[in-house]
Amino acid sequence: MRGLKDKVVLITGAASGIGRATVLRFAEEGARVVVADFADGSATVEEVKAKGAAALYVQVDVVSPDSVRAMVDQTVAAFGRVDVLINNAGITKDAMMKKMSKEAWDDVVAVNLTGVFNCTSAVLPHLLEQKSGVVLTSSSVVGLYGNLGQTNYAATKWGVIGMTKSWAKEMARNGLRFNCVAPGFIGTEMVRKIPEQVLNEKILIKVPAGRLGEPEEVAAAFAFLASDDAQFINGAVLSIDGGCTL
Ligand SMILES: NC(=O)c1ccc[n+]([C@@H]2O[C@H](COP(=O)([O-])OP(=O)(O)OC[C@H]3O[C@@H](n4cnc5c(N)ncnc54)[C@H](O)[C@@H]3O)[C@@H](O)[C@H]2O)c1
Repeated sequence: MRGLKDKVVLITGAASGIGRATVLRFAEEGARVVVADFADGSATVEEVKAKGAAALYVQVDVVSPDSVRAMVDQTVAAFGRVDVLINNAGITKDAMMKKMSKEAWDDVVAVNLTGVFNCTSAVLPHLLEQKSGVVLTSSSVVGLYGNLGQTNYAATKWGVIGMTKSWAKEMARNGLRFNCVAPGFIGTEMVRKIPEQVLNEKILIKVPAGRLGEPEEVAAAFAFLASDDAQFINGAVLSIDGGCTL
């Protein structure tokens, strides 16, 4: 993909699942990657280094503005700049609305919505000074269409679309781009928590492709949207869902 070589790409939630696949994809494209996660991401960093690319693990809690500031400081100290932020960290705490606790609401909003605000706020001064940069955020098919038992998650995944579109309008003339991906059901730990019967009878039946997506298929969309091939794509939401919303 054009324009990714030597770019500094900061990916949150990068220790596992879609984030890990994204780190590996950007490393293959010649980027320098920061594996930022609450959980230990050193195994992912070792995988990247084995491919001969530069990588750094930074432990971060995206909920904490101080922790996020330290993540960006460590990135700039190691690589001198940041070119791409991928807001990928996310959690679920599912319950039907009549049983959803305030705690489950607050926890999901804190990571999936406020976390995106914190990380984007912290990289913005660098991107604005450079007059270039890309911020990509994980929405979800659930944000676009809602889902049983996911009031909290759907609210946050719709919310990040509104944030992204606002930033695209505010900062396009500063040379910055902001886009979302909206994955469908991707075979990661998050989806493996769904009971198999629900997965087969309620989810896969709706996917024309007839299968779960692969983390690498979302990683490919992130790489495209971050690349110079997507220079005129701003404020977009790219669905990667095997057609499950058709
Ligand atoms: N898997 C899917 O089907 C699917 C579909 C649509 C959207 N998404 C979104 O894609 C993103 C990645 O999902 P995944 O399936 O790879 O999930 P995952 O659970 O495999 O990975 C999420 C990562 O985020 C990290 N994380 C959680 N809270 C954090 C915090 N406070 N600070 C820093 N890191 C934190 C976790 O440690 C984990 O490594 C999420 O935003 C998710 O909502 C996933």
